[in-house]
Amino acid sequence: LTRVLTGITTSGTPHLGNYVGAIRPAVAASHAPGVESFYFLADYHALIKVQDPARVQRSTLEIAATWLACGLEPDKVWFYRQSDIPETNELTWLLTCVAGKGILNRAHAYKAAVDKNRIDGEDDDAGITAGLFMYPVLMAADILLFNANQVPVGRDQIQHIEMARDFGQRFNHLYGEHFALPEAAIEENVATLPGLDGRKMSKSYDNTIPLFAPRETLKKLIYSIVTDSRAPGETKDADNSNVFQLYQAFASKQETEAMRRAFADGIAWGEAKQALFERIDAEIAPQREKYEALIARPADIEAVLRDGAKRLRERYAVPTLQALRTAVGLRDLS
Ligand code: TYM
Repeated sequence: LTRVLTGITTSGTPHLGNYVGAIRPAVAASHAPGVESFYFLADYHALIKVQDPARVQRSTLEIAATWLACGLEPDKVWFYRQSDIPETNELTWLLTCVAGKGILNRAHAYKAAVDKNRIDGEDDDAGITAGLFMYPVLMAADILLFNANQVPVGRDQIQHIEMARDFGQRFNHLYGEHFALPEAAIEENVATLPGLDGRKMSKSYDNTIPLFAPRETLKKLIYSIVTDSRAPGETKDADNSNVFQLYQAFASKQETEAMRRAFADGIAWGEAKQALFERIDAEIAPQREKYEALIARPADIEAVLRDGAKRLRERYAVPTLQALRTAVGLRDLS
């Protein structure tokens, strides 16, 4: 039995990058035979970046509705909110006590914050919380708590999965084989999805295309993607084009090859963007309709989340934590 697990931070509105990097592959994996799946809303993680309670709650609702609209079946998979499983936090402490500080020093997000401080002439750690520093340990707890084998994520998360392996291995070495060691599952045809400005699509860069933006907004956003100034008829460089990379993430191999030829033949940017819009809209229109119905019924979503967490705690989280407490020499609470 393979266990597949992934989460999305509840710090904003889900975007196309979340969809192609995590949601679409995770939902596809959950339909394969012999798979037990775990999908969650990482709201503890959200607190690292967002200190606005209303925004965390709104984002939780939007991301939950997104998973459901994209085909997740809450009676067949585990679907829950991270903070409804307090055992996650307890495991975070157990892992904190085996995690190498030097490894955390090398985490990309933390290093980027330090580098920015240096550029700005500030102290290295100015404005950096211990939460940001500990982010990979919390994430390792999410994964190891349920012995996940495969974690579908975008490339930006690979380092975190490697750290989870490292912390799990150290714990196993000290206390016996408690944890399965996870692997990242990366979609091959999806490099990091670029945003409107060509940088990685990310809530932090404010360059995202919301997954379920209304059709007209989606079109407007796609038409606003930054391109070079080559005229219609001039050959365009597919490999260095955001428009092409986005197209590739939504199109079949054949469609992608046809688009590559169209780029070589000098397709106009407007025409390429129209094709991109139509391709994306064709894939997500049915799910957008479901999303709009779901988001109008927040109480139903809340009930699904609570039920998922309650069952998951009983089945796995509470007994697993008890075994881990005993393994490290803490009292048996059961
Ligand atoms: P988050 O919320 O930043 O992103 C959620 C998922 O979307 C992927 N993603 C992308 N993929 C391709 N192109 C992009 N431009 C792009 N932007 C985002 C991310 O790689 C991720 O898979 N720490 C995680 C949440 C988390 C988690 C976990 C994930 C918490 N615990 C345990 C897996 C397992 C995060 O902040 O993802």
